[in-house]
Amino acid sequence: MALLFLSEADPVEPWREALLAEMPELDFRAWPDQVGDLAEIDIALVWLPPPGELARYPNLKAILSLGAGIDSMIADPTLPDLPLARMVDPSMTDTMAEYVLLAVLRHHRQFDLFEREQRSGRWTFALPRPARTRTVGVMGLGVLGQAAARTLAGHGFDVRGWSRSEKVIDGVSTFHGHDQLERFLTKTEILVCLLPLTADTRGMLKASLFAALPEGACLINAARGSHLVDTDLIEALDRGQLSAATLDVFETEPLPVASPLWRHERVFITPHVASYCDPKTAAKGVVDNIKRARAGQPLHHRVDRIQGY
Ligand code: NDP
Ligand code: OXD
Repeated sequence: MALLFLSEADPVEPWREALLAEMPELDFRAWPDQVGDLAEIDIALVWLPPPGELARYPNLKAILSLGAGIDSMIADPTLPDLPLARMVDPSMTDTMAEYVLLAVLRHHRQFDLFEREQRSGRWTFALPRPARTRTVGVMGLGVLGQAAARTLAGHGFDVRGWSRSEKVIDGVSTFHGHDQLERFLTKTEILVCLLPLTADTRGMLKASLFAALPEGACLINAARGSHLVDTDLIEALDRGQLSAATLDVFETEPLPVASPLWRHERVFITPHVASYCDPKTAAKGVVDNIKRARAGQPLHHRVDRIQGY
């Protein structure tokens, strides 16, 4: 029994060290050099495996994702039909809540406006508004969305959240399902997307949704680039329906140099850094899932392949 570690984005040695600290007997094999006999691999811990790769391991029991979003993994038709768990890590959750708070505050306190004005050498006085009068809406109330919503509520914002199933969250007004989407959007002045990318949510951030927001609303997308229709965003910004956007994720990453998003004065870009997974804080949950898979028990944070998240 051995664990395959496969990621070109995550550091091998910190992961090896963190997992062995939790499970000294673990046979850790880093892809591609240390894989050895494919038949000995029973668990795969992976981020963006090359299409077809995981189908090569005949005794694989479970696939553990190094990321929270598993959209690109399940898009691979050769992915073995095995239990698949997404990443849940306290550091990932905290850094996402921090990113969302920072991005919301930047729009709320008009730093986006002041940055533009500084470039033109203009002293534009604009009074701040109290956080309690600013409505922030979080789409997706899972692990990351709930943490972001609670952090914003703790900061005094008027927070609402939207999910597929009904939720009760202290200090947050909640909405669910397509029937309540419009009600969720009507008062949302800063919209935060933390949805998984699925057949239902692809392309959701589009003209008709922007039109349902109050004029001059801001958008923060830290979920997946394919949630957003870029051309609709640019048009909404140019018409003033939206006043600014913070984007961390893009349909193609790195964002191609030719993309007009790079040069739009109302778009602020970060390079998919909203949150990160820390092997030191994530290892305990990963080891728990390795043991569960080997004991034939259900995985924590198992992905429902039909729902797509
Ligand atoms: P979860 O699976 O915990 O939560 C997903 C949430 O979205 C749930 O509340 C779910 O509703 C809701 N949802 C799903 N489909 C719909 C729908 N059709 N309509 C309404 N609500 C829906 O995911 P996480 O919070 O862990 O992660 C969210 C996403 O964040 C990831 O999938 C990934 O794409 C992105 N991400 C981005 C990172 C970055 O650095 N930029 C880092 C990590 C993740 P319900 O509760 O009813 O099931
Ligand atoms: C993730 C990500 O899904 O980093 O974990 O985007």
